[in-house]
Amino acid sequence: MKAVALLASPRKTGNSTGLAKCLTTILEENGRDVVTFYLNDLTYRGCQACNGCKTRSETCVLLDDLTPVLDEVAKADVVILASPVYWGGVNAQLKGFFDRAYSYLTPEFVTGPVRHRLPPGKKLVFIITQGGDEALYDDVFPRYNNFFELLGLFEKSYLIRGCDLSDRQDYRNRNDLLELVEETAEELL
Ligand SMILES: Cc1cc2nc3c(=O)[nH]c(=O)nc-3n(C[C@H](O)[C@H](O)[C@H](O)COP(=O)(O)O)c2cc1C
Repeated sequence: MKAVALLASPRKTGNSTGLAKCLTTILEENGRDVVTFYLNDLTYRGCQACNGCKTRSETCVLLDDLTPVLDEVAKADVVILASPVYWGGVNAQLKGFFDRAYSYLTPEFVTGPVRHRLPPGKKLVFIITQGGDEALYDDVFPRYNNFFELLGLFEKSYLIRGCDLSDRQDYRNRNDLLELVEETAEELL
């Protein structure tokens, strides 16, 4: 099993990255391969709506730092996406990846039957952290997961949602979240 982790926060010792690292550490300790990308270190553009991925290429025709990220995600069995909530949604670093992930979809993705180009059996772990309490922004994961389910991109999705986390190390005091990370790792192994 190969996992790829896309860490979107600019805070490398922050909450979403910290929780993702707890998960990838357990996977690595159990002999799994993990490739990690810090999206904030990369230079890339959002989707240019050129439709190159629907007309002349099966991959995104933009060539930049996101190109190897898109390749690794396509090959991985487990995709870990970790982002802080900014302005009620995922941050720009992850949104840029989502927009470019349009290149995974076939030209017939609306009508089917083959809607995407990814191998089957992929699992998703979505890690999202926010300063606000749990009554706020509970639509962020479903907003994207509804698309993923409609398109059949993932066989199974797991959500790790950390609320009331403001300072970068707050997650360390949250046994509920650390236990959820362990449970998720056990399911993946
Ligand atoms: C630009 C910016 C926008 C933010 N917007 C929100 C928001 O809309 N709602 C919220 O609950 N927290 C918001 N926060 C707080 C972060 O989501 C919170 O501190 C989170 O735990 C940070 O995750 P990280 O430690 O992984 O970077 C914002 C923080 C920043 C820097």
